[in-house]
Amino acid sequence: MTDYIKLIRPDDWHLHLRDGDMLAAVLPESARHFGRAIIMPNLVPPVVTSQDAAAYKARIMAVMPDGAQFSPLMTLYLTENTDADDVATAHKSGLISAVKLYPAGATTNSDSGVADFDKVRGVLERMAEIGLPLCVHGEVTDKDVDIFDREAVFIDRILDPIRRKTPDLRVIMEHITTSNGVDYVKSAGNNLAATITTHHLIINRNDILVGGIKPHYYCLPVAKRESHRLALRAAATSGDARFFLGTDSAPHTDPNKESACGCAGCFTATNTMSILAQVFEDEGALDNLEGFTSLNGPEFYRLKPNKDHIILRKGDPVIYPEKLMTAEGEVSIFNPGFPLLWQIEA
Ligand code: NCD
Ligand code: ZN
Repeated sequence: MTDYIKLIRPDDWHLHLRDGDMLAAVLPESARHFGRAIIMPNLVPPVVTSQDAAAYKARIMAVMPDGAQFSPLMTLYLTENTDADDVATAHKSGLISAVKLYPAGATTNSDSGVADFDKVRGVLERMAEIGLPLCVHGEVTDKDVDIFDREAVFIDRILDPIRRKTPDLRVIMEHITTSNGVDYVKSAGNNLAATITTHHLIINRNDILVGGIKPHYYCLPVAKRESHRLALRAAATSGDARFFLGTDSAPHTDPNKESACGCAGCFTATNTMSILAQVFEDEGALDNLEGFTSLNGPEFYRLKPNKDHIILRKGDPVIYPEKLMTAEGEVSIFNPGFPLLWQIEA
């Protein structure tokens, strides 16, 4: 029985670090285990220009824990007014690693997102030219589309037309939640990849809704039916390099989650690696864990894997705290609902 795994240090290809007190509280949770993370730009106001990204990066670096070797990879929030030259300059200087597309109104802090996709055509063409990846929140926001269908409809109505018009654009479908997303990635060439979160490998929509509503399992895109969860698990553990980890760890304080109109987001930064080791072990795929967490992401982003390693050891259940204390309030840490036996050695 394997009870020891040595992995190239993992990266998180989709992370919400927030700002201010929340940033200071959650950053150590990611910096402890991960080498790099793609930092989501959905602040209020969003990170829209290269100047915004430089300022946000400086705020992150200012609260970096001593000794941490964690690099924030910055992104810009695509709006209908985004300037292609600003994007290209920010890419060339190494300041940004991707641009993020939120359909307007799709999720937390996405009001400045794109409504008319023709208005961002010029920026997308420029990104295709310079090889800068587009990270996509793949959900339509039309009121007539059921929330559980929004990812599948987005692929047909928005993403596939964009990719046909701009075939050289490199796209990452963020946090896919459906077999439709898995199949779409598999059907495409090497310009398309997808991140998968930790929590979508664990929960389906019953976990959110059966026996009382579980606000801490609510995130966007919302978890779908069991067959979709199984498709995600199969994709994540398959060894297919087009699928890699993006935790989408998205802290909200408990009062903001446990409310009549609760916020979307699961906070998984703290225990993600323990959870993933268990998932991959349960699928008989521990050999593919390093690809998913440490190799496939850098390959798509055309970066080198991290140089150092982490060690996971299996033993008695690891007891993680239930909540992270922050100056803004408590944040519940994602509860996978099963014991975690894999611990990261310090
Ligand atoms: C994210 C957040 O809180 O910023 N929430 C979430 O449910 N995932 C936004 C997002 O990535 O959709
Ligand atoms: Zn997110």
